[in-house]
Amino acid sequence: LLDADKELSLSQQRSLSQRSDDEEREVITGTLICSVLISSTLQFLVGFSTSALNPIQPYCFQGTPQALWALAVSLYALGGPFGTMLGRLKLGSKPKIMLCYVLFFIGGILQCLAPTVKILILGRLISGIASGFSTAIVPVYLGEISPPNLRGAIGTVTQFACVVGILFSSVAAYGLKEGREWRVLLGVGAAVAGLGGMGVKGGIVESPRYLLGRNHKSRIGRRVIKELRGIRTDEEVEKEVSYIVAADESIRKKEVSVRQLLAGEHGGTFLFVITLHVAQQFCGINAVFYYSTYFFAGVVEDPLVGSIIVAAVNVLATWAALVLMDRCKRRDLVIVSAGGMLIAVGGILAFTSLQALKVYKNGPLISVVAFVAFFEIGMGPIPWLLPGEILPPESVKVAVEACCQVNWFCNFIIGLTFPIMQENIGYMSFAPFGFVLLLTLIYTCWAMPETEEGLVLAASGEGMEALMMKMGSGSMGGREGGGEITRVHSGEVG
Ligand code: GLC
Repeated sequence: LLDADKELSLSQQRSLSQRSDDEEREVITGTLICSVLISSTLQFLVGFSTSALNPIQPYCFQGTPQALWALAVSLYALGGPFGTMLGRLKLGSKPKIMLCYVLFFIGGILQCLAPTVKILILGRLISGIASGFSTAIVPVYLGEISPPNLRGAIGTVTQFACVVGILFSSVAAYGLKEGREWRVLLGVGAAVAGLGGMGVKGGIVESPRYLLGRNHKSRIGRRVIKELRGIRTDEEVEKEVSYIVAADESIRKKEVSVRQLLAGEHGGTFLFVITLHVAQQFCGINAVFYYSTYFFAGVVEDPLVGSIIVAAVNVLATWAALVLMDRCKRRDLVIVSAGGMLIAVGGILAFTSLQALKVYKNGPLISVVAFVAFFEIGMGPIPWLLPGEILPPESVKVAVEACCQVNWFCNFIIGLTFPIMQENIGYMSFAPFGFVLLLTLIYTCWAMPETEEGLVLAASGEGMEALMMKMGSGSMGGREGGGEITRVHSGEVG
């Protein structure tokens, strides 16, 4: 595993050095901002859909049996793997983004107007397909339109938009008579999708990588580069074009299947990434975002306010993660994250079951808050970043799709089983999550290579020279005999 990473690191460094000359000149243009905002609103809708039923459970189709409600919540996630496959459609990014908005709109309308729980479930499934589709296309699109020196920062927008969507659903529900006006809340989701879809035509540009991949001579491709990068001279545009075309051709030539990837020299690394995705879901994070209002009942004074506090801390922690991500090693962050979550699970179990601790009324809420905060600094964003960072460019596309599918499927299992466990064993249903976290901790310490991601500073623009200096001075230390891993620009791989 480590040797493979060492080799990978070298090829990635080469790709970085090709770009370093241009990085300083790149500016943030209006076209870039609009394209980022409109495309990442899809991720906002992913977050919104994830937790939209959480705050309204007490009022939406009152009297629905728990098992049927669990289906309404979790079938959303089952749509995810199917949506991920839509990413393969041979279309440009713009029509794909449009299609994704249309799916969110249809799913939202069905839920808002649902005459029965069954129609609500159908709407959830369609929103789930849209969500899987979004996780497959938005990060790739953002990578393809962002200048290299901003890719790190823009790449994190996807997770940020998602957690803001989660927070928005509970705050909006609070404003809508604490969730009693649940149809209006679900309608708001549809309205955001409708508005986003209307913005696609004039508001975002097609990916230059897609345009130039189809036709190296594309004039539109060149115009888009000019608009996105704010560059004026034809010479600069041609430089960018030749870089995109070269990267595209080299990836196309070497593209691999999942099977080839597993059997090849990077198979171990790929397996590690997939396992981390399984752990990300089986650690139980979405049990909180799907059901906190339900399991806080009787334990936290105001369950909806409790859910809002949890979602707000989730946003703050994601913000903190943006800062930590370029300063700390990935491996250290995953270890601290899983370790912190494990302690938080201990807190949840202790504060809800030990008589002596039950007097600390805020104990369970604080423990759940700590649980999500620790999640967002490592277990949340890092599994999504890893494929682009530690796998060779030609395998990233297939790896990301596999990760999306596994992730969404595990998400579905948690959504379906958690309420059943909750009904039978109450807060003890967090115990299996603790066990998963313990295994994750051990597995990460044993199998995850050190990464020195922060020092690449693709996002801060320090560029290749600084990186080389750090490497030369030996400060990019991995484990003994281990290789160092640097960032692959995600735009080269999508
Ligand atoms: C990650 C997970 C997703 C979860 C979210 C919460 O993106 O993949 O399932 O809902 O974090 O912030």
